[in-house]
Amino acid sequence: MRHLISELDLTADEFRSIIKRGSEFRQQWQNGIHEALFPRHTLGMIFEKSSTRTRVSFEAGMAQLGGHAIYLSPNDTHLGRGEPLEDTARVLSQMVDIIMVRTFSHTALERFSEASTVPVINALTDLLHPCQMLADMQTYFEHRGDIAGKKVAWVGDGNNVCNSFINTASLLGFHLHIACPEGYEPNADVLNRGKANAVIAESPEAACNDADLVVTDVWASMGQEQESKDRKSAFENYCVNAELMGSAKDDALFMHCLPAHRGEEVEGDVIDGAQSVVWEEAGNRLHAQKALMEFLLKSA
Ligand code: CP
Ligand code: NVA
Repeated sequence: MRHLISELDLTADEFRSIIKRGSEFRQQWQNGIHEALFPRHTLGMIFEKSSTRTRVSFEAGMAQLGGHAIYLSPNDTHLGRGEPLEDTARVLSQMVDIIMVRTFSHTALERFSEASTVPVINALTDLLHPCQMLADMQTYFEHRGDIAGKKVAWVGDGNNVCNSFINTASLLGFHLHIACPEGYEPNADVLNRGKANAVIAESPEAACNDADLVVTDVWASMGQEQESKDRKSAFENYCVNAELMGSAKDDALFMHCLPAHRGEEVEGDVIDGAQSVVWEEAGNRLHAQKALMEFLLKSA
């Protein structure tokens, strides 16, 4: 039985085969085909943070696979009243076939997965966002083929999505150049483990120079709202604008996991421009996660 807590829980071959399968699901969806591969299966969805894409893609994805999804928020469950995570994992394992969790603490999610007897998916923690990586890589591969050997620029906060890009760079063999203000670097352990494929760049321009893919994310992630004012001044030179995109390769793609703040981490003419693939990237959450659920349910 397998979980997906970190990108590094998968081998490179498994990662590539899941996104290939995601592309097949995308093709089927475009042709109006929903193969009910998992009838009467149930996905438990624990959300301790907000979500648009993750909730809808998992819920719609499970419905399309012939199953059902249950949305569980701390307000409606005993998680919000102090029932231990491990107990919740044990109880849900008696009732559902697979569980996804969006929460703050990565170690809490690890504890949850250790107590669970059904597959657990990390749907974002403060440390990592592996489902986003499956969708992002599926999108890149669909446009440009394999990403091995390519240059990827990360501009902005060294946050959960950045950490996940570091892990994915190690796994798939691309070169990640991270431009972030001092004090907002990615997780030191993650960077240290991934240092063969990820470096801190001198500036956003240096990171983007000749890049095949430019990626950014919000300046203040969920849970950091009270830091927004300080972050706005720290990040003012970390906005992906047309000039920065101009230093990347002519055919460079632009990605953002969304939600985006136009005029902060990205200018409107970039995110809404010809190099941006953000809507497909968001759409591929659905297809990549159907492939992920299939992979994990078959492992169970
Ligand atoms: N990108 C992403 O995970 O979006 P949501 O927060 O809307 O789920
Ligand atoms: N870094 C962002 C990603 C949202 C999908 C956050 O954690 O809020």
